[in-house]
Amino acid sequence: MPNISTSGWAGHAGRRFGASAVEVFTYADGELPADLKCQVLSFLRVQWPEGFVEGNRLRNWIHRPEQHPTHFALAENRVLISYAGVLWKELEHAGALYKVYGLSGVLTYPAFGRRGYGSQVVAAATDYIRASDADVGLFTCSPHLKNFYAANGWIAMDNAVLLAGPRSASYPNEELVMMAFFSEKGKRARSAFASMPIFFDDDLW
Ligand SMILES: CC(C)(COP(=O)(O)OP(=O)(O)OC[C@H]1O[C@@H](n2cnc3c(N)ncnc32)[C@H](O)[C@@H]1OP(=O)(O)O)[C@@H](O)C(=O)NCCC(=O)NCCS
Repeated sequence: MPNISTSGWAGHAGRRFGASAVEVFTYADGELPADLKCQVLSFLRVQWPEGFVEGNRLRNWIHRPEQHPTHFALAENRVLISYAGVLWKELEHAGALYKVYGLSGVLTYPAFGRRGYGSQVVAAATDYIRASDADVGLFTCSPHLKNFYAANGWIAMDNAVLLAGPRSASYPNEELVMMAFFSEKGKRARSAFASMPIFFDDDLW
């Protein structure tokens, strides 16, 4: 089986990201190799079982296609070490429309934890968002990961109010809101995002 760690691998559909010893590969949705996809899904099923109940009991997708996923995977000899997904949607906030990107499903298999691999996939995913047409970045995390994401430029919006779910039936998010401001339009909106309730108008990613 080809090796995707240090020397790349013939015929892969991904793109190498970064220059360190174990590298991050990025894949358009549908191009993530099946064995890597299976390892991502297996981790998600254990870590976030609530995403795999009822209608999603036999879920075989990492992110919904309408969230425009791009996958960032760090693996050695096809063994997945770390992963991050990048998603985007259009979001209306305070009367304006923004292109919002976010991170989702960030993970490191425990045997590889606290060695900088998670930061490496977050850095690659964040660089990708920075180079995109994003106005702002937004996702949620538990408060203990604030510094982990802040190290890659994400800002903890301690007082932001984020409402999850469809606008008509929204409910408050209880995690820490992390944001980044990319375009001029996005930068100008920072105080509006900090001070006015953000209706995500979908399940949080
Ligand atoms: C959160 C998670 C992705 C972090 O992955 P990781 O590969 O351990 O991340 P890193 O090694 O890059 O950084 C983790 C910490 O280890 C520290 N660290 C990095 N390299 C280190 C090293 N060589 N030695 C010791 N510590 C190190 C980092 O400074 C960081 O510290 P911090 O907690 O103060 O920010 C991982 O713990 C995980 O999968 N958690 C479960 C799923 C989850 O909660 N995902 C996040 C969803 S928002």
